[in-house]
Amino acid sequence: MGKNAIGLGVVGLGRAFTLMLPTFTQDERIRLVAGTDPRESARLMFSKDFNANAYSTIDELCADPAVEVVYIASPHQFHAAHVRIAAAAGKHILVEKPLAIDIEDCTAIVNAIDASSVGLIVGHSHSFNGPVLHARRLLQSGEFGAVHMLNSLNYTDFLYRPRRPEELDTRLGGGVVFSQAAHQIDIIRLLGGGLVQSVRACTGQWDPGRPTESAYSALLTFDNGAFASVTYSGYGHYDSDELLGNIGEMGIEKNAAGYGAARKKLAQISSPAAEATLKAAGNYGGANYQFKPANPARFHQHFGHLVVSASNADLRLTPEGVVIYSDEKRYLLPTPKSRVPRAEVIDEVWNVVRDNAAPTHGAAWARATTEVCLAILKSAETGTDIKMQFQVRPS
Ligand SMILES: NC(=O)c1ccc[n+]([C@@H]2O[C@H](COP(=O)([O-])OP(=O)(O)OC[C@H]3O[C@@H](n4cnc5c(N)ncnc54)[C@H](O)[C@@H]3O)[C@@H](O)[C@H]2O)c1
Repeated sequence: MGKNAIGLGVVGLGRAFTLMLPTFTQDERIRLVAGTDPRESARLMFSKDFNANAYSTIDELCADPAVEVVYIASPHQFHAAHVRIAAAAGKHILVEKPLAIDIEDCTAIVNAIDASSVGLIVGHSHSFNGPVLHARRLLQSGEFGAVHMLNSLNYTDFLYRPRRPEELDTRLGGGVVFSQAAHQIDIIRLLGGGLVQSVRACTGQWDPGRPTESAYSALLTFDNGAFASVTYSGYGHYDSDELLGNIGEMGIEKNAAGYGAARKKLAQISSPAAEATLKAAGNYGGANYQFKPANPARFHQHFGHLVVSASNADLRLTPEGVVIYSDEKRYLLPTPKSRVPRAEVIDEVWNVVRDNAAPTHGAAWARATTEVCLAILKSAETGTDIKMQFQVRPS
């Protein structure tokens, strides 16, 4: 780790932390100095693995002078309270998506950060993926002209991965709109200019045993005249990774024999409590947990099929880069890979903490993404167009 590495304190040592761990351990700009989680097994493992402090509460973690940035990876419903505690303690914040699950909490966070001297970044989200940032730079260059239309679709087995009970209850932040549209809408807003004007959507709840939104289709209009069609299904049937060379979301090739594996595994589970235990068992500190070092992936992480239509070309994002379909020819612009997956998140944290830069994925930005997610739910419920109020451009 580098001399000037940022001291990171982690709140919630579950799945999100497990996915970010290869980034934190292999990016020299980060030093894991403290962690907190109600699970004692995770605290014990953390203090042993990193020779770091493991606390029972976030308050104790935030009082630790070695902690410069607090990574909040607790369940959605705790984000707002945890952000307030960290900001009051003068710590910079990296908080998992979604920022919060209602606009009032998002606004309270925006105001708390504005009134403080700390920076806040919302991530990881797949809008940090290399090809997304690459496509953004290409579009900003003006070479391809204005963006007119975006088309995004992602079909996964999200609903059948083991879940905590609240992840299957929309009122508590469950379902794909809070967990997955938070990625998809962030990407679409970043490439579409940020300022969504209206949202018309339908959602699907088709499995009575898992009664939360698990599919949606939304039509978004932007203030600049662009529009986007955004579709997601987490029902574990068709897998849109087939359109991406069978490369999975994490940039790793998929085993075709794995078809239906999530449903099969879940069929052996007898109760919601047993399902939550199964989820925790696979995470850091759990009985089935195994550290997976950073995959020297040949591919970037992705979030499904995405085509951006601009005046002079279509741009298609792939796990290798951005394919350009211009008037004359089709060609791939490979996106350079960093040694560490999700290093783009640390780039932004570093810029904010060490260079005092404004974040791209700041609180007001993430409130605007959450506003669109909430509008997907509202439009589906009311059958109407929902107008946006809190949109901002990406900085
Ligand atoms: N960006 C990504 O790729 C990604 C992936 C998964 C989850 N997430 C996000 O991370 C967050 C957590 O989801 P998850 O799937 O990791 O859940 P999880 O259940 O796997 O992990 C949550 C962890 O937080 C702990 N926890 C619960 N209450 C706490 C508290 N009050 N203080 C501290 N820790 C507490 C739990 O014991 C658990 O270890 C969600 O907001 C989710 O959207 C992001």
